[in-house]
Amino acid sequence: MDACEYLKPEVFTNVPGPRSKTLIKQLNEVQDSRRVIVFTDMEKSRGCYLVDADGNVLLDLFGQIASLPLGYNHPTLLEALKSPEFPSYFVQRPALAIFPPIQWYKVLKEALLSVAPKGLSEVFTFCSCGSVANENAFKAAFIWKASIIKGRNTPTEEELNSAIGNRQPGAPEMAILSFEKALHGRTLGALSTTHSKGIHKVDIPAFAWPIAPFPNLLFPLDKHRIQNEYEEEYCLQKIEYILQTSAITIAGVIVEPILSEGGDLIATPSFYCKLRQLAEFYQIAFIVDEVQTGCGSTGTFWAHEQWQLENPPDIVTFGKKMQVSGFYTKMEFRPPQPSRISNTWMGDPLRLLLCEKIIKEIESRQLLERVSNVGAFISLGLEQLSESYPETISNVRGLGTFLAFDSSTESIRDIILTKARNKGLLLGECGIKTVRLRPPLILQLREAKVFLELLSQVLKTISSNSD
Ligand SMILES: Cc1ncc(COP(=O)(O)O)c(C=O)c1O
Repeated sequence: MDACEYLKPEVFTNVPGPRSKTLIKQLNEVQDSRRVIVFTDMEKSRGCYLVDADGNVLLDLFGQIASLPLGYNHPTLLEALKSPEFPSYFVQRPALAIFPPIQWYKVLKEALLSVAPKGLSEVFTFCSCGSVANENAFKAAFIWKASIIKGRNTPTEEELNSAIGNRQPGAPEMAILSFEKALHGRTLGALSTTHSKGIHKVDIPAFAWPIAPFPNLLFPLDKHRIQNEYEEEYCLQKIEYILQTSAITIAGVIVEPILSEGGDLIATPSFYCKLRQLAEFYQIAFIVDEVQTGCGSTGTFWAHEQWQLENPPDIVTFGKKMQVSGFYTKMEFRPPQPSRISNTWMGDPLRLLLCEKIIKEIESRQLLERVSNVGAFISLGLEQLSESYPETISNVRGLGTFLAFDSSTESIRDIILTKARNKGLLLGECGIKTVRLRPPLILQLREAKVFLELLSQVLKTISSNSD
C-alpha cells in the first residue's frame, strides 16, 4: 500500500488562495511571511500531494525544500509513533554526549551506521540543521590539520590561553576552501563558505577564506564533451593554484555533489576524483556536503557513491531528508580530547527513530531503484520538452529524481513557477533561472506523467503568448 491517496492535483483557487493570503497577512504581524507560498494543511496532505489552506491539492515536487523523504503522512512513519521508546523520547530530550539513553548505540547502529558511506565508521549527530553539521565538520578538519602541523595532540598552556581571547597561536589562521555558487549554510561560520546569493551575506562579517571556480558544464554532457573537459580542467588548475599559493593554511575543501542552491551545477565523476586526489596530495580534509543530495534522491543513497572514488571522503555531512543532521568521518578525525565538538543535545533520538524507519522503508520498498527509474522517465520527458520549446527551457540535468532545467531568463522561470502552481504543481527554484525538482522518494510514474503533462501545458501557453 502506498501512502498516496490523491491521484491528481485539484485546484480550486489561484495559488495562493484567499485563505493562504489571509494567513500570510496575519503571520506577517509577528514574523516575516514574505517568502510564504501557501499554508500547508499538514493533516490532509498525503504522499506526494500537499493540501493547502484553501483545499488545493498540489503535486509537491519541491518536498519542503528537499527535506521530505517519504511524502506526507507516510503510514510507516505514523506507525513509528507507536514505538515503545517514542513517548519518552518525545517528552524529554537527553543531552546525548553525557546522558544518552540506553538504546543509543543500537539506534545509531540501526539507523545512521546502517547507511554509513564506505570507509567512514564514526558519526556525529546534531539537531536537524545542515549548517551546523557543516560548521562542526569544519571544526573537525581544523583540529585534525592543527595536530598534523604541530606534530602533537596536546595543546600548550599558551595555546589554551590565547584561544580563549581569539588570538594566535591558540586560534590559528586557517581556512576551508569552498566553491563559487556553493551553499553550505546560513549560520555565521558556514556562511563564509556559501556563495549562492549576495543577499544571504550582505552586512555580515565573513572569514576571508579562498573560493575556487566550479565547472559550469553544458548539457547533454556527451554533446559538449570537449568543452566540458576543458572547463573541468581549467577549474582543477585554479584549485591547485590556490592550494599552492594560499597565504593562509587550508585545512579542508567542502563540495556538494550537485551545487544545489547555486543553480544545480553538476560536474563529472572524473572532476570529483581529481579533486579528491588534490585534497590527499595537499593534506587537506575532503568534505562532501550531502545535506541536500543525501538519502536517496540521486538514485544511490549518497550521491558521491557514483563517483567511484579510490579513497573515501574524509567527512560526509548530512541533514534534510535524514531528519537529523551530522557527519560521518574516520576515527582519525575524532578530536584528541572529548567535548571539543559538542553542544547540549548532540542530536535527537526521536528524529533518529524516524531516520531509522525511513532507511528501512527505502530498503524494503527498493526506493533507490524507483528513484532511478522514475528519474530516467522524467529526464527523458524534460529532454523532449526542451526540444519542443528550446527557446524556453534547456540544459536538462541531474541524477535520479534530483533534476533541473534552465529557463531562458529569470522572469520566464518565475512565470513557469507561477503558472505551474496554478495548475497544481509545486516546483523549486535555484540559481538565477533554474527550476529544480526535489520530490519525495516515493514519487511514482503516475505522478511523473502528471508533472510532464502539466509542465507541457505551461510551456505551451508561454510559447503561444510570446508568438
Ligand atoms: C548543500 C547544503 N548544505 C547545507 C545546507 C544548510 O542546511 P540547513 O538549511 O538545514 O541549515 C543546505 C540547505 O539548503 C544545503 O542545500
